[in-house]
Amino acid sequence: MAKIIGGVGTSHVPSIGAALDKGLADTPDWKPFFDGYIPGKQWMADMKPDIAVVIFNDHGNSFFLDRVPTFAVGVAETYHPVDEGWGPRNVPDFKGAQDLSWHFVDQLVERHFDPLVCREIDVDHGLQVPMELFFGHPEAWPVKVLPIWVNTIQFPIPTPQRCWDMGKVLRDAIESFPGDERVVIMGTGGLSHQLQGSRAGFINRTADEAWLNGIADNYDHYRNMTREEYVEEFGSEGAELIMWLVMRAAMNDKVTLKHRHYHAPASMTGAGMVVLENA
Ligand code: DHB
Ligand code: FE
Repeated sequence: MAKIIGGVGTSHVPSIGAALDKGLADTPDWKPFFDGYIPGKQWMADMKPDIAVVIFNDHGNSFFLDRVPTFAVGVAETYHPVDEGWGPRNVPDFKGAQDLSWHFVDQLVERHFDPLVCREIDVDHGLQVPMELFFGHPEAWPVKVLPIWVNTIQFPIPTPQRCWDMGKVLRDAIESFPGDERVVIMGTGGLSHQLQGSRAGFINRTADEAWLNGIADNYDHYRNMTREEYVEEFGSEGAELIMWLVMRAAMNDKVTLKHRHYHAPASMTGAGMVVLENA
């Protein structure tokens, strides 16, 4: 039986990757943001996971608005970091945790989810940036990945409760997987931001702080909120936070908040992370 060694929630803003590429991590604008991740990175190094399940959304790079799956799961051997228009980044390919992926897909269907199953697909900043924040810039990634895409781009996005339910299947799939792999679950996106319309530039620090403080214990509140309430409270793109619920649901009811960090603004977002361990 594979083992869940912890869950993290984190921002995935593309300018974080750009800041790393341009060597800006130690500048006054970025240093406070990156410094907050040092304990999380150390935690990851100490925990030595074999597989990272990364829950994120594509941003019009691998799926465009003409075809948007509500949920998609990767079963590929390798995932290439997609070029988002600024040229290829110096980020190594990600090796797929294929056997666990297929097992998860099978369990999803058994539990009445109908995911798009991807044998060949690239991954954008939604997956790249969280991996860089927690694993740094290695020659080769120390973990295999199981990517899960959630539509948070084009309405109707899935309900928070549906993300929660998927997390329960994820947990059972990991724990019924014959193997001794150590698995970390990474929910990505947020925190509050809106990139479009009359509220472009919207950040809600109060809601972000409450989210970071509440995701460990106050999860019932967040899974019972409507999608519209997410947009109102966190912004149209801040609704990406529903993806953290997949991670949170896969953990025990009681968890320990090991690390927490908040910084705003990073680009146009409230940004930060939590690291959770099962209590
Ligand atoms: C930004 C944030 C995101 O989550 C994203 O996916 C793209 C851009 C931003 O603030 O620039
Ligand atoms: Fe995003």
